[in-house]
Amino acid sequence: MTSPEYTYPEGAAAFPHRGLVGIAGLAPHEIWFLLDEAEQWVELNRKAQKHREVLSGLTIINAFFENSTRTLLSFEIAGKRLGADVVNMAVATSSVKKGETLIDTAMTLNAMHADAIVIRHASSGAVQLIADKVDCPVLNAGDGQHEHPTQALLDALTIRHAKRAFNGLRVTICGDILHSRVARSNILCLTSLGADVRVCAPPALMPEDIERMNVQVFHDFDAALKGADVVMMLRLQMERMEGQFIPSPREYRHLYGLSMERLAKAQPDALVMHPGPMNRGIEIESDVADLAGVSQITTQVEMGVAIRMACLDVLTRRGRKAEGWA
Ligand code: NCD
Repeated sequence: MTSPEYTYPEGAAAFPHRGLVGIAGLAPHEIWFLLDEAEQWVELNRKAQKHREVLSGLTIINAFFENSTRTLLSFEIAGKRLGADVVNMAVATSSVKKGETLIDTAMTLNAMHADAIVIRHASSGAVQLIADKVDCPVLNAGDGQHEHPTQALLDALTIRHAKRAFNGLRVTICGDILHSRVARSNILCLTSLGADVRVCAPPALMPEDIERMNVQVFHDFDAALKGADVVMMLRLQMERMEGQFIPSPREYRHLYGLSMERLAKAQPDALVMHPGPMNRGIEIESDVADLAGVSQITTQVEMGVAIRMACLDVLTRRGRKAEGWA
């Protein structure tokens, strides 16, 4: 796909950042550049022979201090498809469990001459802390309630494939906005590309200063759905909640669950998205989650591999260039 809305400079100037800690700080044309870079990998991933030697000789370390299925697997597959040596640090059996500090762990990874480090951590800001200490590019695979930039990029790529453009697109994000790094990164990414973003949650699950992020705030899901082009559902992040944030899952489902009946309030060609993991029967009904042509949930997973290939390729280009490879 060519870029109908944004142009970007040639060469390294197209993405001048050392790492990818967040969507914050990225210009719209830099986001667009990453989406364009991912298209070649979407095509490659649909072929039987999916291997390239672009990152051959490089070592990528995935250090996931929090649980993950999609993100960890797709970063691993992305690195391997591009020919890198990918190592997953087993945090549960690592020295982190013996009380090693995050900085000491980072210094250890650095001493092993990793060429890129991918980190997921429960603390907001932990990824930046490590990025400041190591010599190679660091990619944020989700830090606390802060950001999850590759999720927002894969969501944008999914939307772009179906809708082509973002200007004026009405995107409703509903769920546990307060605890969601996916919501934060998506709001930053989608508003930056020109979409009209609506957020919907019960008052207890909505950040107080959310309006500053250029979004429309709703507590009534039916109103938030009216005329929406994209409906993005989020899980209740129970593991980040201390105390009672919702009266009961039953009541939450009644007020904020996406059913077929509710979906009818959105545009007839609306897309349904969910970053996973889903809690079927709470924030989304199974018939909606599995609705062919409408639900984008498996496409999101597919785009996730391509986006992570693009990010690993783009961010290691400088190092490869210095050695005359790329
Ligand atoms: C999300 C995350 O970990 O932030 N999942 C993901 O990366 N696909 C959302 C979640 O856990 O609910």
